[in-house]
Amino acid sequence: MSGGSEFVVVANRLPVDRGENGWRRSPGGLVSAIAPVMRSRKGTWIGWSGSADEELDPFETDGMHLFPVRQSAEDVELYYEGFSNATLWPLYHDVVAPPVYDRAMWDAYVRVNQRFADAAAEVAAEDAIVWVQDYQLQLVPAMLRKLRPDVRIGFFLHIPFPPLELFWQLPWRRQILEGLLGADLVGFQLPGAAANFVRLCRRLVDARNLKQDVFWEDRLVRARAFPISVDVGELQDLIGRPSVRERADELRTDLDDATILLGVDRLDYTKGISERLQAFGELFEDGHLKPGQAVFVQIATPSRERVEQYQLLREQIEQQVGRINGQYGEIGYPVVHYLHTSYDRAELAALYLAADVMVVTPLRDGMNLVAKEYVACRSDMRGALVLSEFAGAAAELKRAFQVNPYDIDGLKSTMLAALNADPVDQSRRMRSMRKRVIDHDVDRWAQDFLSALEQPHQLP
Ligand code: ADP
Ligand code: G6P
Repeated sequence: MSGGSEFVVVANRLPVDRGENGWRRSPGGLVSAIAPVMRSRKGTWIGWSGSADEELDPFETDGMHLFPVRQSAEDVELYYEGFSNATLWPLYHDVVAPPVYDRAMWDAYVRVNQRFADAAAEVAAEDAIVWVQDYQLQLVPAMLRKLRPDVRIGFFLHIPFPPLELFWQLPWRRQILEGLLGADLVGFQLPGAAANFVRLCRRLVDARNLKQDVFWEDRLVRARAFPISVDVGELQDLIGRPSVRERADELRTDLDDATILLGVDRLDYTKGISERLQAFGELFEDGHLKPGQAVFVQIATPSRERVEQYQLLREQIEQQVGRINGQYGEIGYPVVHYLHTSYDRAELAALYLAADVMVVTPLRDGMNLVAKEYVACRSDMRGALVLSEFAGAAAELKRAFQVNPYDIDGLKSTMLAALNADPVDQSRRMRSMRKRVIDHDVDRWAQDFLSALEQPHQLP
């Protein structure tokens, strides 16, 4: 059986989810990157609405054709919050939190992956291109190949792929690897991740390889790096709007023209939020900064709120913000503004324009689009980016103020260097980073991936 779509994206989430006041954009970098690609290519996006037990018919939004896949409350608990976000997420991010290994969660992961594979098999036209996204759906490529050997299957992992020594912990390591090997092309953010994958194929399933080409069950599976990027056109359009520029001025005025340091993240323990706040607080303690002179604005999108590690993180950050403001703030001059909310794109662009220093300090991150969004918005060549060495973006944004986020003294001196950088140095750095981001935007990323997927790849 085949459906009518020549191009199909399969992701755990649809680009929109159900908020209290109806549909809104889903959180996270995957949706930021794939939505513009989908708008420009006619195709179908298969995913979950974000609510449990919701039965929805296919619908159109914002020029995209959406095909919802249902998840029961139990699926959400065991597959989404469980195996995806309490097992794989921490394991793939250098075990910065302890992964949970639970057999019921694994069973749910298999069951829900099969549901996504069935949906893709139903929707895809004969010989279609099917592009599977991210760690929640690593079994889909092999499941789909079984159902539909005619389709061309690409897989892209948005998060890091761990070294063999960590991946080996996973009780279901073989099944996950064999799931991925169902694809024709497996894409990663960085060459190191592709190398980890190929090494694992050799060691775990005895596959032969020629560089990054793996031979598996009479097929060739290619592993390649495709660093993801941002929609530069969308951001340029936003910062060109008078309303966005006025809003940026208003933000600066509201903050009494203090120097603004900005953090924008999902509230996630991989993002290094606590480390950056600690370092910022100590700059007041040491007398390098005075209340009213500099302020940290931390925007934290609520994320995965029923997963225990996320609940602990929220408590920790909120206590820490209270402590820092209590210790170093003055009446009318809190030193940290913490906002536990998500914003629309125009407000984010205004924040990027208002920020003197953008602070992006993940302990581990596949790419980090926020860093690239900031750079894409600074056509004025102003502003400085403090960037963790452990973000995928550090490989491209070499002229950022790079830092080891585990090193609190290093964070302090790097923030100070960014705060005090002279305008000529700032603009040289920004110019070089902008060139990279503008030349390698998300359209180019998608084009590179899809043309590699479409290339013929017979066994030699
Ligand atoms: P992740 O994919 O781990 O969430 P990224 O930095 O790669 O991290 O992508 C985050 C995306 O979510 C970016 O496009 C960013 O603009 C968006 N985002 C982050 N925080 C917010 C927020 N508070 N409100 C709206 N969008 C946000
Ligand atoms: C990251 C992941 C995505 C995920 C997003 C938001 O970007 O790579 O796959 O969709 O975070 O997380 P959530 O759990 O809310 O979908």
